[in-house]
This record gives sequence, C-alpha cells and structure tokens, in this order.
Amino acid sequence: MNLAVLGAQWGDEGKGKIVDLLTSHFSIVSRYQGGHNAGHTVYVNGAKFILRLIPSGILHAGVTCVIGNGVVVDPQALFAEVDELKKNGIDVDGRILISDKAHLILPYHRDLDLLSEARRGERKIGTTSRGIGPAYEDKIGRRGIRVCDLADSKGLEQNVRDNVTARNRLVQDSTMDWKPVLDQLLTHAERMRPMIRDVSVLVNDAMRAGKSILFEGAQGTLLDIDHGTYPYVTSSNASIGGVCTGLGIPPKAIGRVIGVVKAYTTRVGEGPFPTELFGEMGNRLRETGSEYGAVTGRPRRCGWYDGVAVRYAARINGLDGLALTKLDVLDGLESIDICTSYRSGGRTLTDFPSDVGQLAQCEPVYESMPGWSAPTKGLRQFDQLPAAARNYIKKLEEVSGVRASIISTGSERDDTIIRDEVWR
Ligand code: IMP
Repeated sequence: MNLAVLGAQWGDEGKGKIVDLLTSHFSIVSRYQGGHNAGHTVYVNGAKFILRLIPSGILHAGVTCVIGNGVVVDPQALFAEVDELKKNGIDVDGRILISDKAHLILPYHRDLDLLSEARRGERKIGTTSRGIGPAYEDKIGRRGIRVCDLADSKGLEQNVRDNVTARNRLVQDSTMDWKPVLDQLLTHAERMRPMIRDVSVLVNDAMRAGKSILFEGAQGTLLDIDHGTYPYVTSSNASIGGVCTGLGIPPKAIGRVIGVVKAYTTRVGEGPFPTELFGEMGNRLRETGSEYGAVTGRPRRCGWYDGVAVRYAARINGLDGLALTKLDVLDGLESIDICTSYRSGGRTLTDFPSDVGQLAQCEPVYESMPGWSAPTKGLRQFDQLPAAARNYIKKLEEVSGVRASIISTGSERDDTIIRDEVWR
C-alpha cells in the first residue's frame, strides 16, 4: 500500500526520521511540495544527514527518489546537496528524478524573498529566505520557469531576461544582469538533464507495476497555504491535497496517511501559537529537544502539545495514524500539559479557527498529566514505557482522535516503537 507521511503541526515534527525508517518497505520516495526550505534530519549509525530538497529515502540504496512538479527546485541547492551526499559515500547516481513540470528557484527569487520580508516590517512572516514564496508567486502568476523550459535555450533566454528585468523594476537601484543568471542556469541544466522525467507517468507506471510509493510531505499542515495559519504559512499545500496536484496522481492512489507530530509543539517564524511557553519550561524543551532550525539555525518556539491543532490536521488530512516523535524529550518532567480546547471571548472552542486574529486571542485549556522519571530514550516496545508515559500517549490519542501507530524515542532509526505496520 502507498503511504503519505506528512507534518500535522507547524513543521519540524521529525518527518525525516520517520520517512527514512519506513523507506525500506517502498520502491519510491517522492516529495510533492516545498523546496529547500525543508530540513529533514536523519541519523544513521551516529552520522547526521540533513536533507533539504532530496527525499529522505536517499539513504537507502536502490530506492528511487522523486521530486514532483509541486516542488520548487533551486538547482544550486540541489547540486550542493547531491555533492554533499556523494562526499559522504551515498550513491545517488540515477536515483534522483525530477519532474519536467517543477518550477525553478532562481537567484532573484531569493532577493525578492528578503525584500518582501523587509517591506512587511513588523508583519514579516519569518521565512527561510530561500526564495520559496516568490518562486511560487511566479508559478501562479504564469511567468515561472519550469524544468522543461531548460531544453529550449531561446525561450529560456527570453524568460530569464523578462524576469530579471521585472525584478530590477521591483527592487530599488537594482541592476541585476540577466546574462550570468542564464549562464549559470545553462550549466545546471546540463547536469540536470539525465534526471528529468514526466513524474506523473513514472509514478503511475510504477504503481501499475505493483511498486509501492511513499509520499514525503515537507513543512506541516498548519503551514499549508490554504489550511494553515494564513498569512503566516509557506506557499505550498503541505497537507494531503498537495500529493495529487504535486505529483500528477489520482486521490485513490494515496493509500494510508500518517501524520507526524512531536510529543509537544514547536514553531519557527512568526504567527500565533496558542500553547507557546515562555520562560523556563520553553527553554527546557528547546535545549533538551535541540530545537534549532535544521536549515536556518533559528531557535524554535516551543510549547505544550496542542490537541486542537492536531485534531484539525487529522480532519484535513484524514489521518490514519500518528507518528509521535521526541517522547524522550519529556523524560523527567513532573507534569505535562495537553491542550484540549481553546477559550476565546468567553466561549470554548474545540475547532481550530480560520482567522489568525482569533487564533491569537485563544487561550489554551489544559489537562495536566503526571510526568515520568524513568528514561524512555531508546525504548523499542510499548509496554517498556513507564505507565505515566503510556497514559500521556493515551490522552494525546484521545484528544487528537488518532492512534499513535509509531512512537519515536530517540534520533537513531531503531529508537522506535512500531505498534502498527503502517506500510501493509
Ligand atoms: P518559507 O517557506 O521560507 O516561505 O517560510 C514561510 C514560513 O514557513 C516561515 O514561518 C518558516 O519558518 C516556515 N517554514 C518553512 N519551511 C519550514 C520547515 O521545514 N520547518 C518549519 N517551518 C518552516
């Protein structure tokens, strides 16, 4: 059965580890949205790998890694990542395939990202500055440059000229020259050529041949452009709908859907976060959980588990199960809070509000659970967990409305409790 693994919070849930862990059951791992704003961290035998654009399945020999049309591809970032993997002894040749319909991120997108943030001032999004938003703006504005455009050097030259000229008009005193942008792109195009495919044909053919596919989400449901905390979101559909549009496959092909959640909540960048903790407890979670951005190094905002948010993500994505990560970060806490609903304007809310202004006014309603002192780190059986940890998980499942099928108790692949064989 095919399986989608996606973020059910604000990103950084630990999708990289879960995808890597499950990859051995699949022939293809495919990314369907986002770009190198993602930072999927995977530890194998003590070695740390951070995957930004390339699917996290790359660390398993023989698995094909696909980048779908819904992804925005920065060729420079792509090849930097390819070279780093090669340097670390990972054989990537012939294993990375890119959709001919994927849009490209070019150097002017990065500048426009910075400019847009500067213009927003106090209302800035807190983007990763990778040019993600401006590249998707060009896509929707029907002036983007796609991977298939690399084959037509005349048309490409015209497009690059037009886009650089438009950018010079937007950025005060900018005199960016289109020629070096084009030259660099042509060099990358040469290297990219053997990787380019019609991904919809490739994936649909693979499914017909009985191969199973893992769909790897980037960012999280609450950062989704439609269903997230707009405007404090990324510019793509990180939730389940993105799988179909971002790969060219029908909804029936998706199979099962697993939402990855941390045993608490984090967020990077701006925007409301009802269960955010300030002071000592926030710092404790940040330091114990090493909550610093894999891509930007920014400290993450930390807070208690938000059951309202995950319930919402479960509805949007039709989650069949949760992959619960970083349980061990809570080891040693006397008590742990779970947000079960919000209070706003004297009313109790059990649904996640659409309006970011209203969300900012919401006060979390907590249920306090006893903590546990025995370490859970590295445990691999559910019944080895301290009773209080099992109770915490039970409550979290009840509040979220989804069973925890996988529980991660450490950063290594095998530090995991598998309760359900979600790949079958
Ligand atoms: P952008 O995707 O760079 O445009 O950033 C938009 C928002 O999404 C910002 O709040 C970022 O911090 C957030 N974001 C983007 N990618 C990730 C990610 O992989 N993990 C967590 N947050 C992300």
